[in-house]
Amino acid sequence: MAELRTSIHGQWSSRWAFVLAATGSAVGLGNIWKFPYITGENGGGAFVLVYLLCIAVIGFPIMMAEIMLGRRGRQSPINTMYTLAIESGHSGQWKWLGWMGVVAGFLILSYYSVIAGWALAYIFRTAASTFNNVTPDGVSSIFNTFLADPESLLFWHTVFMVMTMLVVARGVSGGLEKAVKFLMPGLFLILLVLLGYAMSTGEFNRGLDFLFNPDFSRINQESVLIAMGHAFFTLSLGMGAIMVYGSYLPQNASIAGTTFLIVIADTAVALVAGMVIFPLVFANGLEPGAGPGLIFQTLPMAFGHMPGGAVFGTLFFILLAFAAWSSSISLIEPAVAWLVENHNMDRMQASVIMGIACWLTGLLTVFSFNLLADFTPLDMFESFKGKTLFDLLDFLTASIMLPLGGLAIAIFSVWVMGRDASRDELDMGDGLAYKLWRFLVRYITPVAVIIVFLHAIGMIDLAG
Ligand code: TRP
Repeated sequence: MAELRTSIHGQWSSRWAFVLAATGSAVGLGNIWKFPYITGENGGGAFVLVYLLCIAVIGFPIMMAEIMLGRRGRQSPINTMYTLAIESGHSGQWKWLGWMGVVAGFLILSYYSVIAGWALAYIFRTAASTFNNVTPDGVSSIFNTFLADPESLLFWHTVFMVMTMLVVARGVSGGLEKAVKFLMPGLFLILLVLLGYAMSTGEFNRGLDFLFNPDFSRINQESVLIAMGHAFFTLSLGMGAIMVYGSYLPQNASIAGTTFLIVIADTAVALVAGMVIFPLVFANGLEPGAGPGLIFQTLPMAFGHMPGGAVFGTLFFILLAFAAWSSSISLIEPAVAWLVENHNMDRMQASVIMGIACWLTGLLTVFSFNLLADFTPLDMFESFKGKTLFDLLDFLTASIMLPLGGLAIAIFSVWVMGRDASRDELDMGDGLAYKLWRFLVRYITPVAVIIVFLHAIGMIDLAG
């Protein structure tokens, strides 16, 4: 029925290229840096369980919805939302949903690049055997000295932003696709090697126990909000990244099957990362709740004491930087696609402009760890006490903007867009699978997001 659009930006060469690219987007710092540290901060097993539940009942159906909208609209999220809304007889103001996504992606990339810079810096540190036989104090002091030096952070932030823009400038199949084709398989390989090492450290069972044995007394409403936000973050949902990748997806690829592969791969990487990191944490008497520095303090310590540690350590941080690289390109792709569509720029110009703007915004995060470490502007609210600009940016994007974006995407997909259109695009007939998807997106996702939000707002008010 509907005439098929094509994207002016080109298309993935195959369904597999899309799976690789979307997995490349999903698997990143979220899985390897953020998942372990927020799991450590939120007490382990119970948090992991809530996170897995959110992946299954919210993340999975929302990813299908985003890919579906993207492929249907075949433009940047802003223009896709506008076109699809008009097409189904609704207000073009839905384009603001696309805008919120562009802003969220931009803000996330601004701090993502700084943390990815840490990974780049640590490649060279481990390779230089800086951590040989280091003590726990020694490893913290190396990390803290690094954070205290805005120039080093700035340098690596700059390197990472340039790397990101180089790939984005080269376009859909020339840049993005080529990069992930060799990044993703390498990543899986290195992770498995590290898993083998973690299993042989002797604290593997304690690590597993921490990750998978739920103790519900250790989580609260804020933990649930963080777990839900992280489900969006780790799957790259709620801001149009997967939507824009979906807009380059060949018409005949199955959306449900593709989504399944991406979700499984992403979840597996996070859990394996946890299974690598926590046994090492316990084997070395380190603290699981150490915060954003967790992997940068605990792992170098472990690497410093194992045979061949310099090699394993270097491999690990290369892996982390690669994973971050294939994610960062998707954070800025919606904005770049929009500049190309609406401002008649080529990809090169668009990437440079966005890159510079994002780099500048990243300074807020760079300085959050040194010059502005004591600048905690929302201290008047109990729940934001002591949060730096970086903490606040992370909270605003991951815990607020992404779930809100996901909620709006859910509402759009089933309440605004006609049933025929979504069934047609998802192309899975009118059977149980389609009905289940529709039920989840229509009722479960919105209700879950709203309930978690209401609880979180209650929490802020009560405490504030
Ligand atoms: N999912 C990536 C990670 O886990 C980060 C990321 C890439 C992202 N694109 C996104 C997060 C879009 C939110 C939205 O590291």
